Amino acid sequence: MVRTAVLVSGGGTNLQALIDKAARGEMPSVELALVVSNSAGAFALERAKRAGIRAEYLEKAGFEERLEALLREEGIGLIVLAGFLRILSEDFTRRWAGRIINIHPSLIPSFCGAGFYGLRVHAAALERGVKVTGATVHFVNEIPDGGEIIAQRAVEVLPGDTPETLQRRVMEQAEWIILPQAAEKVAEMLERS
Ligand code: GRF
Repeated sequence: MVRTAVLVSGGGTNLQALIDKAARGEMPSVELALVVSNSAGAFALERAKRAGIRAEYLEKAGFEERLEALLREEGIGLIVLAGFLRILSEDFTRRWAGRIINIHPSLIPSFCGAGFYGLRVHAAALERGVKVTGATVHFVNEIPDGGEIIAQRAVEVLPGDTPETLQRRVMEQAEWIILPQAAEKVAEMLERS
């Protein structure tokens, strides 16, 4: 198993999908060992505590240094960004190249990059009038949403959709499915390497 850290900033529904998948024994190569948030009030931290996973909030000052210390202390081999809204430095992403993945709520290369996060992604998709959107899991590099794509899943846009209804459908029908699958796939690869 690969000891895995999940970085979060908000509600943690993607973290919950990982927790539930692990609890069902469907993510055998992933050991959820640590959850770190850059937001003190993130409900994701509460989800981690309820699941018995170490949960830490790190303030802005010295965030990456303290994160590195936690990752080392816990012997982390894989990092999953799940609704994590802070941009990590090039130095950090290079050090963790191939061992850090992110879930983005669109079919990259559409509606991604700087400024595209949360509801803004879905508002842009509705504005453009796309009929299909979805989610992408990709490796993280120094370019926001720029790393190699690992998995994608399409979701239909329905008449009358709002950013909120579309976000919910993309979470339910795409994010919560492909993120655990991708985490397991990457952890398996890391175990064999
Ligand atoms: C949501 O916009 C989701 O689409 C994206 O990050 C935001 C929060 O996700 N991945 P979560 O509920 O905190 O996992």
